[in-house]
Amino acid sequence: MNTASRPGPRHTVLVGLMGSGKTSVGRRIAGASLPFVDTDAEIERKEGRSVRDIFAADGEPAFRALEEDVVAASLAAAAASVIATGGGAMESAATRKLVNRARAEGRALVVWLRAEPAELASRVGRSTHRPLLDGDPAGRLGELAVARAANYSAVADLVVDTDGLSPAEVAERVRVALHVAGQDGGVGNGAHG
Ligand code: S3P
Repeated sequence: MNTASRPGPRHTVLVGLMGSGKTSVGRRIAGASLPFVDTDAEIERKEGRSVRDIFAADGEPAFRALEEDVVAASLAAAAASVIATGGGAMESAATRKLVNRARAEGRALVVWLRAEPAELASRVGRSTHRPLLDGDPAGRLGELAVARAANYSAVADLVVDTDGLSPAEVAERVRVALHVAGQDGGVGNGAHG
């Protein structure tokens, strides 16, 4: 009788700043067996334009609203998945609420990938597709690290430090952390980091 009351699929949600490895690590964790959603890619697919173009034409608040819709749809999916969010997704109170409701209902486990701003800056290198890093990427990442820490912390079940690690090494750490948190057994929320 009890088996029917088991909650829906448990999604693994990756949060963290630009360059923290959400996409590359998420793909590795999903592997061949789980659907993988990258919210930036999904927004670009739905809108038919790049993140940079959306920021330029409609502004950041409009982008955050699109992001909220994609996070909501991803969390509502019938099959468990790995969801890599954009670095600013948790800046939206509405998106945090969605994620925290999913956590409370046992439908999501959130992993915060952390790294020092200098390392994030070296990972993003000279890539030009992130409008918020125009000008001074290292300086911007330092500011965003301070400004956003509380909102990542407000949703994170687990924190994984990624400094000096390759995406494959981070993925292995995340797998171990998920295992310890019972994600593969489907029980409870993980230890808070
Ligand atoms: C942003 C992060 C980007 C993308 C957009 C804004 C942010 O995603 O959503 O450029 O506000 O931190 P990544 O973290 O995948 O680079």
